Amino acid sequence: MIEAKDVSLIYENGTVALKDVNLHINPGEIVYITGPSGSGKTSLLKLLMGMEYPTHGYLKVMDQVMEKNRAHEIRRMRRKIGPVFQEFKLIRGRTAFENVLLGMRFLDIPPKSMKEYAMEALENVGLQHKASSLVEMLSWGESQRVAIARAIARRPSLILADEPTGNLDVDNAMNIMDLLASFKDANTTVIITTHATHLIDHKKEGTFIRIKNGTLKVEKREVANV
Ligand SMILES: Nc1ncnc2c1ncn2[C@@H]1O[C@H](COP(=O)(O)OP(=O)(O)OP(=O)(O)O)[C@@H](O)[C@H]1O
Ligand SMILES: [Mg+2]
Repeated sequence: MIEAKDVSLIYENGTVALKDVNLHINPGEIVYITGPSGSGKTSLLKLLMGMEYPTHGYLKVMDQVMEKNRAHEIRRMRRKIGPVFQEFKLIRGRTAFENVLLGMRFLDIPPKSMKEYAMEALENVGLQHKASSLVEMLSWGESQRVAIARAIARRPSLILADEPTGNLDVDNAMNIMDLLASFKDANTTVIITTHATHLIDHKKEGTFIRIKNGTLKVEKREVANV
């Protein structure tokens, strides 16, 4: 699913966002990325969705080599990603349902199925009753769930959620974490970033990536088969 060999990301102004990243993620894994503000969490997700390219090293995401000169192929590959952005990026003046539908543009889904998938996704996040509400009328947590519905309606192979629990109280944050984790299956890899380590410290299963100043520490936890 993801293969990184000695990947670095240096922004144009010289900021070293990621250093010598080595990573192997299998399909169907759940991955939690933690680290303080400015440590490189969003930068890592940007590399994974081809919004930035490695300055050095080799990165492959879903069989696609991530390089600047392959931008066209990478755009196609991105159809298999369901992104949940740190700042949501919902479209104001549109309803929750319309926002989820808009997230499915450019996918090979027949228009009739699109509406079905969109409604199903809203049901999945417990927001079917808000389908026709304008997104600016929604609470913070509800907006977050619309953003998640928009990602899962795409039926992605890879869900990338950037800080999906920021500003939520602990109970709601836990719920969002569990909701996102619930979409993991044999065909769907889920990657979630958070600065809140207390939300994941107790988790027994998954890949745990700790970033500090652009350097990764990777720990895999497995539930023992008894
Ligand atoms: N486009 C950019 N150009 C230059 N530097 C950048 C750019 N984007 C991010 N940075 C820098 O790269 C470093 C990593 O930023 P990044 O956004 O990945 O951190 P983060 O872990 O997501 O932080 P937060 O928890 O606040 O979201 C920071 O020093 C940041 O200032
Ligand atoms: Mg960030």
